[in-house]
Amino acid sequence: MLDFNEKTATEGVLKSFSSIKNERLKELMSSIVTHLHEVVKETEPTFEEWLTAIEFLTRTGHKCDDRRQEFILLSDVLGISMLIDTINNRKSKNETESTVLGPFHAEAPNISLGNNIANHVEGERCIVKGKVTDTNGNPISNASVDVWQSGPDGLYDVQKENHIVDLRGKMTTDNDGTYLFRTVKPQYYPVPTDGPVGEILNSLGRHPFRPAHIHFMVKAEGFVDLTTHAFIDGDPYLETDTVFAVKESLIRKLENSTDPKDGTSCKTLEFNIVMQNN
Ligand code: BEZ
Ligand code: FE
Repeated sequence: MLDFNEKTATEGVLKSFSSIKNERLKELMSSIVTHLHEVVKETEPTFEEWLTAIEFLTRTGHKCDDRRQEFILLSDVLGISMLIDTINNRKSKNETESTVLGPFHAEAPNISLGNNIANHVEGERCIVKGKVTDTNGNPISNASVDVWQSGPDGLYDVQKENHIVDLRGKMTTDNDGTYLFRTVKPQYYPVPTDGPVGEILNSLGRHPFRPAHIHFMVKAEGFVDLTTHAFIDGDPYLETDTVFAVKESLIRKLENSTDPKDGTSCKTLEFNIVMQNN
């Protein structure tokens, strides 16, 4: 019989896992329990503190529905989503780095190269362009480039009541791997704060903002799917992104330029994408 005490607690639970057939499940559960026990032994929570944590997780669950995933948001603000993303997207050469998907990806309308994706918002006009290549610089034609972003009000279309699809589009690269679309400059924005994650950010004295960015999901035959962002240089939240998703290699300058279509002034953001071989 196992005499339960502070020394034998972990061993007792690990023993109960001895007949788990799925080796990976056994590894994960053993590690999780070992580390959780360590946390409890190190911090010695009171019953009140333990119950506060249980109630927090319960409210987090209650906040989830088809459109809202508060547990993923919790994982995001604790840096867990980014750690998992980075571990699962290790790069060996000059491939474009990945970053979090986020909750605002949705089916996008197919667009032709050069189209404007900002159809229902006003803002600083911007041309976004680049080449999709392999690690040797060879262009990848026919790659799918799916983009989405927030508007100057910091909101994504799916966050608005009017259900109008805007600021997203899916295009295909041309023969020399080029993609190009017109849009407006994205703005920094807060992650949703009307739930338990907002409360915890507040308790921790943290702001809820993400620096301005454009999301990219790029797919091409023979290459690993890439989910990433282009961040805008100079944004005040680049150093303190609340979901820890900034990688220096993804920051780009917005340059002053002229739209070749009509000669008007606009900004240009160039973001070349290097895909990883399968
Ligand atoms: C986003 O970039 O859209 C995002 C990522 C993580 C949490 C909330 C939003
Ligand atoms: Fe975003």
